[in-house]
Amino acid sequence: MNVTASTPTVFDVQRIRADFPLLSRSVHGKPLVYLDNANTSQKPASVIEAVNAHYRERNANVARAVHQLGEEATAGYEGARDKLARFINAPSRNELILTSGTTQSINLVAYSYALPRLKAGDAILTTVMEHHANIVPWQLVAARSGATVKAAPINERGELIVDKYLEMLTPEVKLACVTHVSNVLGTVNPVREIARECRKRGIALLVDGSQAVPHRPVDVQALGCDFYAITGHKMLGPTGTGALWAKREHLEAMPPFFGGGEMIREVRFSGTTFAAPPHKFEAGTPNIAGFVGLAAAIDYYESIGFEAIHAWEQQLLGYATERLREIPGLRIFGEAPEKEPVISFLLDGAQATDMATLLDLQGIAVRSGHHCAHPLMQFYDVPATLRASLAFYNTREEIDAFIVALLKVRKLLM
Ligand code: ALA
Repeated sequence: MNVTASTPTVFDVQRIRADFPLLSRSVHGKPLVYLDNANTSQKPASVIEAVNAHYRERNANVARAVHQLGEEATAGYEGARDKLARFINAPSRNELILTSGTTQSINLVAYSYALPRLKAGDAILTTVMEHHANIVPWQLVAARSGATVKAAPINERGELIVDKYLEMLTPEVKLACVTHVSNVLGTVNPVREIARECRKRGIALLVDGSQAVPHRPVDVQALGCDFYAITGHKMLGPTGTGALWAKREHLEAMPPFFGGGEMIREVRFSGTTFAAPPHKFEAGTPNIAGFVGLAAAIDYYESIGFEAIHAWEQQLLGYATERLREIPGLRIFGEAPEKEPVISFLLDGAQATDMATLLDLQGIAVRSGHHCAHPLMQFYDVPATLRASLAFYNTREEIDAFIVALLKVRKLLM
């Protein structure tokens, strides 16, 4: 991967943990071990304080007031757009639509880009490993237009079968979709290669980046895709924040999805004209404080650097995988050579939800269930898995505590 930040000689995880107030709490009388980061990350004090300071000192609506507070609130909100655009190397801040998260971002593309272009017989290509947000919006617009949704297969190791994906990019495909990183398997998909092949065929590519941006530097220009969707709350930011990056030519051609204040140039009953992107797609009062918090989250990532984050997370992933593999009857789902720190697993003869409940009693927070990825569960023919998902503030000691707790649970249930 392409990283630019410099690596500190020692990754001082204890110093980092001190920045996250919630990590020092206990659960059921046990120290919390938070391994549900792919669901939502914890927040550093700087993010919490940025949101707090916004409401205490600068709260006002954006772009509607000439008073000082209005200007400060607008600067906070638009400043977040600048930071986010830089964070993913968008060519222009005007190509970045601030949304409530990946789900809204993908729905915007579904209704504003895909639906007007789709007709009976057309298709949208996605994959078996997607999260529901990269499946269901396509099904909804397909149902309205008579198009179909096709899903490219994966193999048992949880890798996308890229040749098959490319073979499925037939002329009737009007939009191709793929997740950058699987939320269940951790698999990193070869997005650059897919984007190159999509470009050759004149098919736009949407990438769900929600599980990638917390772990690796993302450069949308280098990836070469058309749309990139992200979520703020998985990358240290507040809930209800996210973004859609899209190429300018698409944003200019797309009709607005939500109508209301902020997205117009002039409203008349004889016809309304719209603001230029990005505001054309941002009707109503946005989550101003949330984006101020997200800007602080980006500052936090940049203060550590992705080279150091990635190296530490990969060490943790390797260690956790090794320890889990020592447990008899434990099956790991997702063994691609390039993974982000997500491990889904099951123990023979034990229900995932029972295990998660018993782990919680020992202070270990993992997710159990289908992880909003039913087709993936159907592929593996299981109703659910357990998932431990790591962040750079986790430690080897936490993984040890998780393994000890898991062995206890195994004893209880076997
Ligand atoms: N929040 C979902 C997850 O846990 C997407 O992966």
